[in-house]
Amino acid sequence: MQEAVCPGSFDPITNGHLDVITRASRIFDSVCVAVMENRSKRGSEVFTVDERIAIIREATGHLPNVTTDRFHGLLADYMAARGSKVIVRGLRALSDFEYELQMAHLNRQLNPSVETVFIMAAARWQFVSSSMVREIASYGGDVSKIVPPASAAALQSRFPAMAQGRQKGAPGRG
Ligand code: PNS
Repeated sequence: MQEAVCPGSFDPITNGHLDVITRASRIFDSVCVAVMENRSKRGSEVFTVDERIAIIREATGHLPNVTTDRFHGLLADYMAARGSKVIVRGLRALSDFEYELQMAHLNRQLNPSVETVFIMAAARWQFVSSSMVREIASYGGDVSKIVPPASAAALQSRFPAMAQGRQKGAPGRG
């Protein structure tokens, strides 16, 4: 049984994440989507880890070999504790590459039995990120085409402006 771990912040899960998880679920026997609990970022996130996991569960409910979990501390330690040897990360534009390369090398150094596998999301999701989704939603923009329905619903209840529709670009005053 080959398990892959798909780690990330997932605040919230986007269609790009879901595409990568779906592709991984066709390659590996099981995929664990592991949400990082980041104590230093507390306050800047939109959803709690529990909320993010609930959204991921709903969004991946149709994928029988996908599970969810949470982790804190080093990913390399989490992989060792879990006995998993494959990290799956999505790669988008070239701008992701340097960060991902650094992380893959450092994780390998910290835990030599771990291999990082990169999966490219479909081209239409190349420019989708959770941070952009959060920003668009916070201004009342429509993100329903770039996130799963579970994320869209959660964002709508978190950002009332989004539910009311965008306040039409009122010009600034100075
Ligand atoms: O979705 P993200 O924010 O790009 O995911 C980044 C994540 C969670 C995979 C990365 O920050 C991580 O693994 N953090 C855990 C701490 C750690 O192991 N840091 C060193 C990585 S070399």
